[in-house]
Amino acid sequence: MTLTTRDHAMRMLGVRLRAAGLSTPELDARLLVQGVTGASDIEMLREPGTRMSDEEEARLAVFERRRLAGEPVSRILGMREFWGLPFAVTPATLDPRPDSETLVETALALLRETAEPRILDLGTGTGCLLLSLLHERADAQGTGIDISDEALAVAASNAARLDLSARVSFRRGNWTDGIGGRFDLVISNPPYIRRGDIEALEREVREHDPLLALDGGEDGLDAYRALAAAIPDVLTQTGHAVIELGEGQGEAVRAIFEPAGMAVLRIVPDLAGIPRALVAALPRG
Ligand SMILES: C[S@@+](CC[C@H](N)C(=O)[O-])C[C@H]1O[C@@H](n2cnc3c(N)ncnc32)[C@H](O)[C@@H]1O
Repeated sequence: MTLTTRDHAMRMLGVRLRAAGLSTPELDARLLVQGVTGASDIEMLREPGTRMSDEEEARLAVFERRRLAGEPVSRILGMREFWGLPFAVTPATLDPRPDSETLVETALALLRETAEPRILDLGTGTGCLLLSLLHERADAQGTGIDISDEALAVAASNAARLDLSARVSFRRGNWTDGIGGRFDLVISNPPYIRRGDIEALEREVREHDPLLALDGGEDGLDAYRALAAAIPDVLTQTGHAVIELGEGQGEAVRAIFEPAGMAVLRIVPDLAGIPRALVAALPRG
């Protein structure tokens, strides 16, 4: 046992991370100390004087070096909270972004009147969108598709951790290829970064999110073209598609979905006011 308390270690680490110019040093320090000690938020507050073991201190030193080398906290811990739920992340999955919670909120409102909804998640990654929806809607069933086997294994492990495996299936596929049947909700956060912009992304994104989750082709819109062509065949007549948008892509994506035979009902902003989720449906009547 060392003389260092959790609270002291957290504060000193926060000072060093701040000095290194990181944007959220105190939060990062708390999450990393919690990561090595297993202390909950409440334990961190109620028991600030708890001493750290030698092993915990040694692991924290390793975590600090990784953080200072630009690795995101979620990658160091292998976990990210999304919609208040824990999701494992690996090098094969996108690190779920808080902005994507706008899609979950929008989808839940659209599903309010639908009993036992069937949900399809295209490009599921960690499964964060689909599993958050299934967690909220105990009567829902879901299918998650990804082109990456490694991502699908992570999604399946997340479903098991959240006790949702019985209501979800994950399948490898290229968007909707080979999918039979129709769904009340199709949700997707596709890769939408312009290929030429990837080099200029923040290092934490460029070096740690998989290219497959970022690369939207030359103009960033390749996946939207594929989705607009495919979704009409898997959506019910009263169903909705909720699709994440990259910043500034709303009108370009509308101009892809409408000629593909879908009605764009609205574009929903995220908490920062940035248009984030496009809601589309089959034309009525
Ligand atoms: C931006 S990530 C989104 C992951 C997760 N849904 C989220 O919101 O955090 C896009 C995902 O689409 C998957 N993907 C890329 N191309 C695909 C394709 N042709 N068919 C199916 N999935 C694809 C990637 O592997 C990646 O997991």
